[in-house]
Amino acid sequence: MQMNFARRCTILAIVAATAIWSGCTQKKVEQMKASQIPDGAIDPADWGKVYPLHYKQWKLTSEPTPAGKSKYKRGFDVGEERRDKLDEYPFLALLYNGWGFGYEYKEPRGHYFMVQDQLEVDPGRIKAGGSCLTCKTPYAPMLQEQMGPAYFYTPYKEVLGRLPGDQQHLGVACVDCHDNRTMELRIARQFTLGKALKEIGVDQSKLTAKEKQTVVCAQCHVTYIIPKDKEMRSTDVLFPWSGSKQGNISVENIIKQIKSSPANLEWTQSVTGFKMGFIRHPEYELFSNNSPHWAAEVTCADCHMPTIKAQGEELSDHRIMSPLKSDLSACAACHTESPDALRAKVYSIQDNTIVLYLKTGYATAAVAKLFEMANKVEASGRKIDRNLYAQAKEGYEQGFYRLVFIGAENSTGFHNPDEATRVLNDASRYIASADAQLRRMLTQAGERVPEKIDLELPKYTEGRGAKKLRFRPEHEIKSPVIK
Ligand code: HEC
Ligand code: HEC
Ligand code: HEC
Ligand code: HEC
Repeated sequence: MQMNFARRCTILAIVAATAIWSGCTQKKVEQMKASQIPDGAIDPADWGKVYPLHYKQWKLTSEPTPAGKSKYKRGFDVGEERRDKLDEYPFLALLYNGWGFGYEYKEPRGHYFMVQDQLEVDPGRIKAGGSCLTCKTPYAPMLQEQMGPAYFYTPYKEVLGRLPGDQQHLGVACVDCHDNRTMELRIARQFTLGKALKEIGVDQSKLTAKEKQTVVCAQCHVTYIIPKDKEMRSTDVLFPWSGSKQGNISVENIIKQIKSSPANLEWTQSVTGFKMGFIRHPEYELFSNNSPHWAAEVTCADCHMPTIKAQGEELSDHRIMSPLKSDLSACAACHTESPDALRAKVYSIQDNTIVLYLKTGYATAAVAKLFEMANKVEASGRKIDRNLYAQAKEGYEQGFYRLVFIGAENSTGFHNPDEATRVLNDASRYIASADAQLRRMLTQAGERVPEKIDLELPKYTEGRGAKKLRFRPEHEIKSPVIK
């Protein structure tokens, strides 16, 4: 705690010498209380007996977040449907057609829901098996240890079924981030993040308390690969960080890792017929790639777990959510601008990101349709220039993965504005050259390519609705049990 506040105060001094220092008072937490939490306690209710305020805030992640305070991660009112990325960005319905993400790809919500949301999602999204529980249940490390390799491929519900009934729906819990004896931050997922940190040369025992405020989140807010064996069974959950360094896990290197083995290609894109990899929520990777806040040693918790006061006690807010939804109170620890001014800055960064994202997204979808056209031409017996095709395919993949990277990252560019812009601009260039190569190739093959490609979007967006309905009744939707 000391370090935490010492640092916040230093930054305060740097960023705004005129800031009010009262924000830097010491939190009053009796660390001794921790030893009362029994070893092996996973149920947050047990931890809640010792830390009732933290437990209460943690449980609030089950509440709808305030509506109307965030532009791109809208809050929702009770009973309202959450937004689906496929509705917001229809080109994704085309690009992801071929597997679960093309049916349903909801925006994230509170930590409390993470397992429940998997049970509600289209079954195609949890087909990989137990692997899918890795960044959801606090029991994941235990299950993996007990089951060994079978953990990864055993059907999702079978793995979940090994847990006590009242624990099956539990999302990220105290034990995922804290040591029960000292309350120090810890990494529970040694079988994924532990391995990955080693690969980028990070010695866990040397991580500072401050660094851990980011690293605990990197257990889940990272991209991963679920490699497949010949029978398309899942064999692991891997972070594609090999060859990278802490502070520079670039999208280039992630793509290189994905493309390094056919085992990493998890699905087939139906429009192009290509076997592809995927990138999920790379919050840690984008943020830690030398963003201004990373460089200033600001942590995930600084912005997502601001200090609040409850019943006379100061604590880190365990109702983790968008800082926009708590009126940017977190930022005030370091910034002197008004919440309105800061909100305007966030929106301006996000708007810039979205303009580029939309432009690149639709261009990528058009190239996917050009491949569809080329495949048809070839299937009809006409010859195409295979060399140009291969070049275009490489460019398309490079552009596609970059687009997915920024679209899957949940801050809409805010975590690292310049890097988000750079990645999207590169994507746009790769896609433009693939577009030109395909047009040349198709023209040579005697095909007349229209200037504006018909994406046939309804085919992907509407077909999806029917499929979703067909799957729905199979689900048994229960509420998570939290005592
Ligand atoms: C055990 C995995 C795990 C850990 C550890 C974790 N998260 Fe999450 N987080 C998730 C998942 C999964 C979701 C999406 C839940 C859903 O939509 O059902 C999520 C959602 C979120 C959201 C969106 C909440 C909302 O209201 O929409 C924020 C913000 C967030 N996490 C921040 C953090 C921060 C900051 C940390 C570290 C202090 C952290 N998370 C640690 C898995 C994790
Ligand atoms: C300097 C402050 C800051 C830091 C540091 C920061 N974030 Fe964020 N984060 C934001 C803002 C601002 C947004 C955009 C929220 C919005 O659009 O509503 C955001 C969005 C998110 C979201 C999506 C929220 C939602 O409602 O869906 C997640 C998840 C997230 N951050 C996780 C992380 C993780 C993990 C880290 C560390 C690796 C991190 N953030 C570091 C400020 C920060
Ligand atoms: C996603 C990770 C995460 C989860 C889950 C989590 N915490 Fe924390 N907790 C943190 C972080 C980050 C801090 C910030 C202070 C630090 O560096 O120790 C913190 C701080 C604390 C502190 C020290 C005082 C304070 O408020 O700063 C206590 C006590 C605590 N948490 C209890 C709990 C309890 C009880 C639960 C479960 C109900 C829980 N935490 C769940 C990440 C987490
Ligand atoms: C722990 C301290 C800390 C917190 C908390 C923090 N920032 Fe910052 N922020 C900084 C520092 C330091 C810089 C300066 C980086 C530089 O200029 O190199 C910065 C820079 C920025 C910038 C770019 C410079 C500018 O003013 O245009 C923006 C935008 C920004 N922060 C927004 C936010 C928002 C929004 C939040 C809350 C969600 C936030 N910050 C939370 C320390 C913090």
